[in-house]
Amino acid sequence: MRSYYEARAAEYDDWYLGTGRFASRDRPGWDAERDALTAALAALPPARTLDVACGTAFLTLHLRGFVVGLDQSAGMVRIAQSRLPEGLALVGDALALPFADGAFDRVLAGHFYGHLAGEERAAFLSEARRVASELVVVDSALREGEPDEAWQERELDDGSRHRVYKRWFTPDALAAELGGGDAETLLAGLWFLAVSVRFATAQ
Ligand SMILES: C[S@@+](CC[C@H](N)C(=O)[O-])C[C@H]1O[C@@H](n2cnc3c(N)ncnc32)[C@H](O)[C@@H]1O
Repeated sequence: MRSYYEARAAEYDDWYLGTGRFASRDRPGWDAERDALTAALAALPPARTLDVACGTAFLTLHLRGFVVGLDQSAGMVRIAQSRLPEGLALVGDALALPFADGAFDRVLAGHFYGHLAGEERAAFLSEARRVASELVVVDSALREGEPDEAWQERELDDGSRHRVYKRWFTPDALAAELGGGDAETLLAGLWFLAVSVRFATAQ
């Protein structure tokens, strides 16, 4: 996943915008739902937020309050920083966060949790819970009759091919996996979902 996203950084937003190799995809309702997703993030109360695996900061830049974006890809971080004039973007590992306990109010993870294997999920959740008392996860919505996980082969503009593990969720199942309490569904769409959970205290 890591080398794939470094190679994909410059073309990543094509997925959100329906441009480039995504221009020919038939995705009914995609644009409206993407805008509803960014509006739901913009509606969150201002907070010190860590956006883990922030990518190009396509979602991050809608957050209010002090924002730090972290990603393992230097290419992603360069783009993210250019979009966060009042925030900070840095290279780092989401599974070993370089921050003190309780350093943030909220962790956001967009389209990241659903790429993690079992032990990585546990490591990420433990780190999220350590640095913040709220976790917002944005990911891909499960569709009736479709599989909830798959190994996908993806092609980039340079013709390179990459195998990527991906999962799809319902809001309730995702909230149950994340643990914590006070689960709130911020968006339950055909394409995207966003769920917030709270942890009793940052450890
Ligand atoms: C599908 S992209 C999501 C980007 C962004 N959060 C969004 O929702 O548009 C997944 C991101 O996870 C990053 N990533 C993968 N493994 C990581 C890790 N262990 N630590 C930090 N970032 C990681 C990749 O570099 C990539 O930018």
